[in-house]
Amino acid sequence: MKRILLLAAGLLLSISAFAASNLIYGPWVSNISETGFTVLWVTEKPSLDYVLVAPDDGSAFERTNRPQFYETAYGRRVSGRYHSVRVEGLEPGTSYRYRVMGQVIKDNSTPYRFQYGPKVRISPKKDASVRTLSASARECRFSVLNDIHYHDARYTKLASGINMEATDFLLLNGDIVSYTDNIDTVAKHCIVPIAAQAARLPLVYARGNHEGRGRDFAKFYGLFPTSTGDFWYSFRQGPAAFIVLDAGEDKPDSSAEYGGQADYDPWRQKETQWLREAVKDPAFVSAPVKICLMHVPTVNYKDSWYSQVWASETWGPILAAAGIDLMISAHHHKWICSPAGEDGKAYPVLVNSNLERMDVVVTADNISVSTYDEAGALVHQWSK
Ligand SMILES: [Fe+2]
Repeated sequence: MKRILLLAAGLLLSISAFAASNLIYGPWVSNISETGFTVLWVTEKPSLDYVLVAPDDGSAFERTNRPQFYETAYGRRVSGRYHSVRVEGLEPGTSYRYRVMGQVIKDNSTPYRFQYGPKVRISPKKDASVRTLSASARECRFSVLNDIHYHDARYTKLASGINMEATDFLLLNGDIVSYTDNIDTVAKHCIVPIAAQAARLPLVYARGNHEGRGRDFAKFYGLFPTSTGDFWYSFRQGPAAFIVLDAGEDKPDSSAEYGGQADYDPWRQKETQWLREAVKDPAFVSAPVKICLMHVPTVNYKDSWYSQVWASETWGPILAAAGIDLMISAHHHKWICSPAGEDGKAYPVLVNSNLERMDVVVTADNISVSTYDEAGALVHQWSK
């Protein structure tokens, strides 16, 4: 009897603890720059939440009035379940702590009489810290995961080996999920297995062909916003400049699998226009090392599918003329090392396996790549 009572009390405690927290996924960090980042999280109930930011200097978070950042639209603070707050005005290469606070919306049916629950802390008790990018950093260090396709346990194991103190960002190089049928499911599978890493390491997402599939495909961008508002963008960290590209679906738009909804040909043309300008950007041109991140590699094999051939023939020459030092890709579910001058392109391409994590260290005169399996054993190495 005593045991049953204890179990019941434990159950009540866990229910009340769950009820007290409106958070279900996150927080995670995306769209990192030298002066800002975006914090994202998902709540169970619609709420009006905000982010507090403090220097990572050991000072008490509550000691002074920390700046508050809300998601806003057209002059108003946005409430809802999916939260995406831009933090700006930061210093380059500097670590900041952040804390998410908020209030559940009890009743917003009457414009002048909103009813809220109590203001509570949303993010975990220990404040996470995030470091902004800096073009003057001596090195750029990042990890890569790709083609997880819902294998949460593998995702967790591969990510657990990341040295978070010595890593600037985590590249999710596409196909972390197989479909975007339900955005809640996507958020759950992309974030929960790597929650510890995602709260601290900025996530750089290079969309794969699979994230574009399913009913909620148009909501996917909202989970991983970028500096351009699309899935192609660029950024700089230390000696390395990055171009992120998205080749879209792998088959022709008219393929029966897409049910008449694919329209990637004109979209890739628009992306091409952006790419032609992006490679002229002074921050890109002046970088000692130039890396392209893209789910589908520009390797043109005899049996390569439609968009892979198209990207190799269209983007390959632009990237080669821009002096790309390396392309890091995914999609093939195996390690591929295609040297410069082979497979229809002038630069080396590395494809990371779906079973390994790739760690990359870039200095002004070297790119060092190592891959590790779930057990943490070194599998492949490459350096320029
Ligand atoms: Fe893929």
